[in-house]
Formats: sequence, C-alpha cells, structure tokens
Amino acid sequence: MTQEMLRPFYAMEILARAKALEAQGRTVRHLEIGEPGASPAPGVLGAVRAGLDIRSGYTAAKGDPLLRARLSARYRERHGVDIDPDRIIVTMGSSSGFILTFLSAFQPGARIAVTRPGYPAYLNTLAALNFSAVELPLSAANGWVLTPEAIEATWQECPFEGLLLASPANPTGAALDSEALAAIMACCSRLGVRFISDEIYHGLNHTGPDASALEAGDEAIVVNSFSKYYCMTGWRIGWLVMPEDIVRRAEIMAQSLFISASSISQRAALAALDESAYYEARKAEYSENRAILAAGLERLGFGDTRPADGAFYAYVNASAFTNDTMDFCISMLELAGVASTPGADFDRIDGHKFVRFSYAGTRADIEDALDRMDAFLGRG
Ligand SMILES: Cc1ncc(COP(=O)(O)O)c(C=O)c1O
Repeated sequence: MTQEMLRPFYAMEILARAKALEAQGRTVRHLEIGEPGASPAPGVLGAVRAGLDIRSGYTAAKGDPLLRARLSARYRERHGVDIDPDRIIVTMGSSSGFILTFLSAFQPGARIAVTRPGYPAYLNTLAALNFSAVELPLSAANGWVLTPEAIEATWQECPFEGLLLASPANPTGAALDSEALAAIMACCSRLGVRFISDEIYHGLNHTGPDASALEAGDEAIVVNSFSKYYCMTGWRIGWLVMPEDIVRRAEIMAQSLFISASSISQRAALAALDESAYYEARKAEYSENRAILAAGLERLGFGDTRPADGAFYAYVNASAFTNDTMDFCISMLELAGVASTPGADFDRIDGHKFVRFSYAGTRADIEDALDRMDAFLGRG
C-alpha cells in the first residue's frame, strides 16, 4: 500500500457538509458520525474541575500509574485476568495506539490484514506509515463475521504478519463471543500472525458479554479507548495492553512521538471508570435506538437490517434505491437533512451498495431522521 492509497474519511467530509448546511440555518439529523451525543458522566466533569487547580504537567510516557493500576483492576473485575500495569500504555485515543502498535510490533513494510468492510483509518494509518494491507472480505450473508477458515485461506494466498480486528466492529457492529475470538487467535498463533484486538466498542455489546483477547492469553495486543462507551471522543484518551516483548519498545516510541497523553484527560478517564451507572444508562438508550432504527430502516425498504450485536451502527444495503451510496448520502443530506455515511468509507469495493447509520444520538433524532427519509424516498 502506498501513500496514493490514502482516501478521505467520508464520514468527516459529510459532517463538514452538514455543518455548512446548519450554518445556513438548516436543521440536520446527524447519523453519520460514530460519536455519542451524551456528555461524559457528571463525576468525570467534577473530577476535572477539581483537578484544574493541580499542576498539569507531562505524565510518564506510559501514563499516570494510578490510571494504569485502575485499568488493570478493571480487567480483573470484568474479564477475570491479571494484567501487569507495566503492560499498559495510556494513549491519545486508540488512534495513537494504532501508530505505536504498528511501529513497535512489526518490521518496516510488514503486511497487516484487516477486514473489508472495516474502520477506514486502519488502511489510511497503515498507508501513511508505509505498511501494506491485506483485506479479508466479509459478507452480510454470514453475519459479517470473520472465521479462522477465511483467515487461513487468505494467508495461504498472501501471507501477512499481523491481523487487526475490531469486535464489536465498525461499521457492521458484529461481535465475537469468547469461543469464536479464541479460535481466531489460535489460528493466528498457528500461522505466526500477531493478533491486534480493537476493543474500542467494549461496553456496547447488546447481545452478550464482551470477549477480550486477554482472556485467551498474553500474546495479543489490545487497543482500547474512552471515546465510545465513556462518551469522551474529544478528550483523546485511550490505552494499549501490550505483550511483554514489545511494551518497552512502544514506551520508548511514545516518549518521542507523543511525550504523554493529556494529564487532564487522564484524570477524567480515571473518574470515568467509576461511573458505570451513568454509562449503563446511556447503553440502555442506545439499545432502544438500535431497535427503532432497525425496524424503521426495514420498513423503508433497506436490506440487511437485522440489528447488529454491538457498537452503535446499522450497516444496511441500499441497493433498492441506488447503485451509488455516495450520491445517495449526499442527496439525502441536501434534500432531507439526514446525514449518513456512504459504505465507500469502509469498503472500497462493495461499499457503494451500503450506508452506515449511527444510533448514538437521541431517540428523537432517529425518529425524525426516519420520517425525513420516508419523505425523501417517497419523492424518488
Ligand atoms: C473501530 C474503531 N477503532 C478506533 C477508532 C478511533 O477512536 P479514538 O481514536 O477516538 O479512540 C474508531 C472511531 O470511530 C473506531 O470505530
């Protein structure tokens, strides 16, 4: 993959267009961006206000020891595993976690496999750092789930050194249970492939408990963030759990690439970990939105509308209306004031048939967006 493979992040471009319409006085329902509408828990804001009086200098490059110890305790509580806090590195959201992961775990130019559809920044980050990408195609017919057989078949044709997988996934919301995740990790181990588990949508699984790669041993790299479940996208705070063989190398890189994550955001993150009642209430709202959106999209005539396991997205087939969802999303924004993301963001081959809707906003937003889409599609 070369620099020429860099593509715009269309969700961000649609957002910019939507903001321009709003600046002209139009109202827009925002279902394009993967970002919670709610604020962080009141306890988070309180901790930050109280902390503003304390000196906010750099922290250790790996992050505040208190936060790393609390994250380690969280793995014991939720997954029954003991994680040495020394294996944890606090990052500026998972985005900087990917950079540290790729640079510390692989030789220059290594080949990393990702799913198609998948989160667009994976391909762009790999391209920007001059790594190569191999795509593992998924399909709606098999629930957008990756299997060991599919990994092995692609690897036989085009071997790769790493595999990066999100569960629950963006854009499909597909989530693996512990058994399915362990089977994928066993396959990677057999093939000598380093497994990277993107667990950013943990806490937002609507069909079962979250399965962490750490339950299956210490070999995987785990990437996580406070952006989604903890409603802290703009705070730019996340973390990595790394195997012992690369954590020191990643720490040395973090010292120079980032110095440290924001000390204020680290204080906020520490408080967020004790606010589960607030965050579980948000999750219950998403759950309600998930059902309303899936039923509404099915009624309107979209395909593949079965509600996804987790995250806060519906990735649906729009072939009944268009052959080019880029045009479709732009017209729907301009004529109906509904912002959504064209599938091309997530899948450069088949994405033109799909649209992603986020249900992380309010129920009222989703209901109004469905009404607007009804009128828009009736017009066509
Ligand atoms: C699967 C996935 N991973 C990572 C990210 C990046 O999140 P952040 O850098 O805010 O932690 C996103 C954002 O949408 C995502 O969907």
